[in-house]
Amino acid sequence: MGKLDGRVAIITGAGRGIGAEVARTFAAEGAAVVVNDLGASMDGNTDEGTPAEEVTEEILKAGGKAAANNCDITDFEATREMVGQAVETFGRLDIVVNVAGIIRDGMIFKMEESQFDAVVAVHLKGCFNTSRHASTYWRENRGGEYRLIHFISGSGIYGGPAQPNYAAAKMGIVGLSNSCASALHGYGVTSNCIAPIAYTRMTASLEGKSTVMDYSPDNEKMSTKNVVPPVVWLASEESSWMNGRIIQAGNGRIGLFNSPAIEREVTTPGIWDMDDAFAEMNTTFKEAIVYPNPFRKG
Ligand SMILES: NC(=O)c1ccc[n+]([C@@H]2O[C@H](COP(=O)([O-])OP(=O)(O)OC[C@H]3O[C@@H](n4cnc5c(N)ncnc54)[C@H](O)[C@@H]3O)[C@@H](O)[C@H]2O)c1
Repeated sequence: MGKLDGRVAIITGAGRGIGAEVARTFAAEGAAVVVNDLGASMDGNTDEGTPAEEVTEEILKAGGKAAANNCDITDFEATREMVGQAVETFGRLDIVVNVAGIIRDGMIFKMEESQFDAVVAVHLKGCFNTSRHASTYWRENRGGEYRLIHFISGSGIYGGPAQPNYAAAKMGIVGLSNSCASALHGYGVTSNCIAPIAYTRMTASLEGKSTVMDYSPDNEKMSTKNVVPPVVWLASEESSWMNGRIIQAGNGRIGLFNSPAIEREVTTPGIWDMDDAFAEMNTTFKEAIVYPNPFRKG
């Protein structure tokens, strides 16, 4: 018995890295998978190979069920057709895992408009596109245990200094996921995010450079295999009670992030006096800023 027997999933960016690992594992656990990848370079600027076909071939050879899809997830109509492909090929759709991503790093004071737009298009618009079309299908086909799983990043949560575009796109996805979690629960859909940590081409440049993590192909804990268990769990029917949350996965750890909540509050019975508001915040809020952040103090 596989943990995803009979379920059907679309996995974007499944030709390489974490997405490919998710696709292979989903298939090994009994799911039929649409392996989406357009085969892009890391900055999304150039075409690089046919990774969706390669992963699909690998799954089929291992006795699994898979179909390749090469659409660009920034294309609204093409993602509608991808949902149609899943339903026509495998008879239904239960799970969408949004993994595809690109990076075009730069400091905020030097970033070109095109760098910002391209990264937001792939991550945020891409997640919107697949979620939009899948949820329309789910609303018309009630009664399932449906799942949206979106890949986000610690760079958004903690504020990666050279990734304002990527950090903004990733936290935009958190808002999208939270809205979907509220809107779609009545249709049997949960929506959650994964903040992964793994050694892939996207993090290879951090090898020997990170002071907080050992990014290395020789570090077993950094394998993409360590990201997959909570993704399979979220995709399974066992996780129906988990909705609108972020799970960190990788480096041998699986962590549940808290949900943003008011930590400290100061109040006034009427209109704030500006000096009083300053004084209250300077004392009450300062005491609260104690959480660890790898990128900055406070
Ligand atoms: N590796 C990490 O430690 C890490 C950390 C934080 C977040 N992430 C996120 O996890 C996800 C996977 O990252 P990875 O390290 O496996 O990267 P990767 O570069 O190995 O894989 C990303 C895949 O997405 C595909 N892709 C890019 N644009 C696409 C588009 N428009 N349509 C369809 N496919 C497209 C690429 O061709 C590539 O195969 C990304 O969303 C990334 O931002 C990764």
